[in-house]
Amino acid sequence: MPYQPLAHYMRAGLLWLDALPPLSLYIHLPWCVRKCPYCDFNSHEAGSRIVNFMGHETLGLASPAPTQELAAKQLPAKLENAYIEALLADLHAVLPLIWGRPIHSIFIGGGTPSLFSPEALHQLISQVRSLLPLIPDCEITMEANPGTFEKDRFKAFRAAGVNRLSIGVQSFDDDHLKALGRVHNRAQAIAAVEEAAQCFDTFNLDLMYALPGQTVGSLKQDLAQALAFSPPHLSAYQLTIEPNTFFAKHPPVLPDDDNAYAMLDTIIDQTGAKGLGRYEVSAFAKEGHRCAHNLNYWQFGDYVGLGAGAHGKLSFPNHVVRHVKVRDPLLYMTKAGAGDALAQEDEVARADVPFEYMLGAMRLVEGVGVQEFQARTGLLPAALQAGLDKARAMGLVTTSPERVQPTARGLDFLSDLQALFLPPYKNKH
Ligand SMILES: C[S@@+](CC[C@H](N)C(=O)[O-])C[C@H]1O[C@@H](n2cnc3c(N)ncnc32)[C@H](O)[C@@H]1O
Ligand code: SF4
Repeated sequence: MPYQPLAHYMRAGLLWLDALPPLSLYIHLPWCVRKCPYCDFNSHEAGSRIVNFMGHETLGLASPAPTQELAAKQLPAKLENAYIEALLADLHAVLPLIWGRPIHSIFIGGGTPSLFSPEALHQLISQVRSLLPLIPDCEITMEANPGTFEKDRFKAFRAAGVNRLSIGVQSFDDDHLKALGRVHNRAQAIAAVEEAAQCFDTFNLDLMYALPGQTVGSLKQDLAQALAFSPPHLSAYQLTIEPNTFFAKHPPVLPDDDNAYAMLDTIIDQTGAKGLGRYEVSAFAKEGHRCAHNLNYWQFGDYVGLGAGAHGKLSFPNHVVRHVKVRDPLLYMTKAGAGDALAQEDEVARADVPFEYMLGAMRLVEGVGVQEFQARTGLLPAALQAGLDKARAMGLVTTSPERVQPTARGLDFLSDLQALFLPPYKNKH
């Protein structure tokens, strides 16, 4: 599906943005050693399907036993090169829509990007730099899995141009890691975080809580271990059972709501005591270490999505568009090579803009400035009024003439708060 010509976006409309928001770049690398039972991301086991697609000889593999070879810590060079070529072809197709706009942050996510070699990442980042202007000190984050860690690997990612690492630790407890189907253990998690702390000025640890069999006591131990590394940033996600995952079919027994809330309270207290402030519903950071990339999402910024199933959002002076790329990694490679990676393109309806904006903004502990809302959406604050009146009455937000801020209760009941801004035809409240 080709992108619409620019003239399509320039047609007269009611929306008028005086300035376009900051633009970020998301790059999706879709392969993992093994699919985790809770995961609904577009991530795929690097197994025999790839070998059948690329051919044993092309990949330089000894036939037949492909799965074990691909389950090593790195993808075959031929595959990663082919995927990076596809990403760059995808980028070339998007360039006319973003000419002249500087890139404020890059996030290389997955899947397990650390399955790619530092050489491949270097090739990718330098090609992106040659095609797009990056702001000085542009944050370039990469997700890494401790199960793909070996000594000096993170140092090599740093040399390749990555300046922020996000490590999917999930837990330091071997029993929890096993229950989550992770490919790494406690010792590997510790080794990975130690090296990240040495090589990167800023890094993030992902933890999950309310895990099968977890108690507030064992969560405290996990957290103490995480905080012992003095991470500049920590993300803590409550385990959710997503449809179409292994856990949805075989649900584990999880801690009840009271325990899950007690765990979150513990996380907020203990991170705060170590100087990590909660700035988003699941994100905690030291001063100066908030994630610029995610902040841009939450503040209704723009982003280009490259890679299998990647999403994008682009603003034009009178138009906001969302893009989705072809989801299947192998089909994506074929389609992107032909300049045809776009699977879906939708204009954000004006009536949906307040909800879409508040979806991100209400995740932020500091909430949103009324002027920022106006600048990003081209709408008057009155567009939020009905939702704000209800939210205030329910104790979910506080408002002043300048700001709207979720209360602690608003953060606890985030989806109820967000739903108050749905347009009347979608709002069931
Ligand atoms: C996009 S995932 C990828 C990170 C990387 N592949 C890894 O797992 O190590 C980012 C984070 O989302 C969180 N996550 C994924 N699925 C989740 C779920 N069902 N419930 C809660 N958190 C989840 C995990 O903490 C994970 O590290
Ligand atoms: S490693 Fe991360 S992306 Fe891959 S399956 Fe597990 S949670 Fe999903």
